[in-house]
Amino acid sequence: MTDATSPALPAILEPLTINGVEVRNRLILPPMCMYACEARDGVPHGWHFQHLGARAAGGFGIVVAEATAVTPKGRISAWDTGLWNDEQRDAWAPIAAYVAAEGAVPAVQLGHAGAKASTVPMHPGVPAGEPILEGPDAWATLSPSGVPATSMPANVRAMTEQDVAGTVRAFADAARRADEAGFGAVQLHAAHGYLIHQFLSPLTNTRTDGYGGDFEERTRFLRELVAAVREVWPADKILGVRISGSDWVEEGWGIEETVRLARILEEEGVHWMDVSSAGLGDRYHGPKGPGYQVPLARAVKEGTQRMVVSAVGSLTTPQEVEEVLVSGAADAVCVGRAALANPNGPVEAALELGASAEQAPMARQYFRATWGPGAH
Ligand SMILES: Cc1cc2nc3c(=O)[nH]c(=O)nc-3n(C[C@H](O)[C@H](O)[C@H](O)COP(=O)(O)O)c2cc1C
Repeated sequence: MTDATSPALPAILEPLTINGVEVRNRLILPPMCMYACEARDGVPHGWHFQHLGARAAGGFGIVVAEATAVTPKGRISAWDTGLWNDEQRDAWAPIAAYVAAEGAVPAVQLGHAGAKASTVPMHPGVPAGEPILEGPDAWATLSPSGVPATSMPANVRAMTEQDVAGTVRAFADAARRADEAGFGAVQLHAAHGYLIHQFLSPLTNTRTDGYGGDFEERTRFLRELVAAVREVWPADKILGVRISGSDWVEEGWGIEETVRLARILEEEGVHWMDVSSAGLGDRYHGPKGPGYQVPLARAVKEGTQRMVVSAVGSLTTPQEVEEVLVSGAADAVCVGRAALANPNGPVEAALELGASAEQAPMARQYFRATWGPGAH
């Protein structure tokens, strides 16, 4: 309700309902690898707690934990988190509980890096993303056709049908553990050139066994994953998919196929699609600049009936984010790197867009910050 003392809510603060789950606002912390599992055991710890917890307290509506591997071979690097065993599940549980206690929906991105596994972590002073080919942090990787995802040297082999079936089971097992750990949403990582994307794109999928070929065949792996996850993931929680809306190359995966897939996925029980782009090949061929991926999100939004769609990528100012929502291009917006720099971005954005301190998603412990200089 609006009156003289409570200004109209900016669009970023409007609650959002996804599959019956109430999300307090439209701002999403996207998954961001922390490469912080120094013990190489995939077990999250204090770093992950403070990183995700601070951004839940900072006001995000959904807080998505980083690409979390469903098998050891599926890790981007040896420092990634996992959900392939119960020790990892039990370590995630207090993190998910804390994020929920701060009012955000705790989510986790489930991923398998495929041919982009076994790489150098994004730590300062190292060539991030380069494959590690030998030593204790290296392993042989898997991809649909043994085609590397970049031109860098790779120790990769084509997946057998048994590998495919095992990976589908691993995703479902990880989803079951995510539920047991208390997550309210899972997001399948089908973007950025990792395993699922490697199946979707003709650039990396040359299989001839029913998992490669035309659109139906290249999307089969993801459709099987969705079906397997749905068997274990509660019907009243959120099931999401992050997709690369385009490879940005003529002969690659494109936005028409993305929209066609989104229509199928909404029939098959996916509630939320987060639309990113690119990830295969060495060079980025697409557009750049603020909101450069928003047109892809809009295409999915306009091409589907019920799908909740989020936009992501170089959306940093409150006004840019607000405009995406007001224009109807997407239902929600992810803010990544800006949130690394400032965990309280949602609160600051809300205040800048004219919300009152009471309306802003501010932790009550920090409310005194609004009293201003000189207040006691
Ligand atoms: C440190 C870092 C780690 C990332 N890790 C992941 C990840 O685990 N999964 C994923 O889908 N995207 C990952 N991304 C991409 C972000 O989720 C996001 O899509 C990207 O940063 C663009 O949004 P921004 O411009 O708001 O930062 C990562 C980005 C950064 C900066």
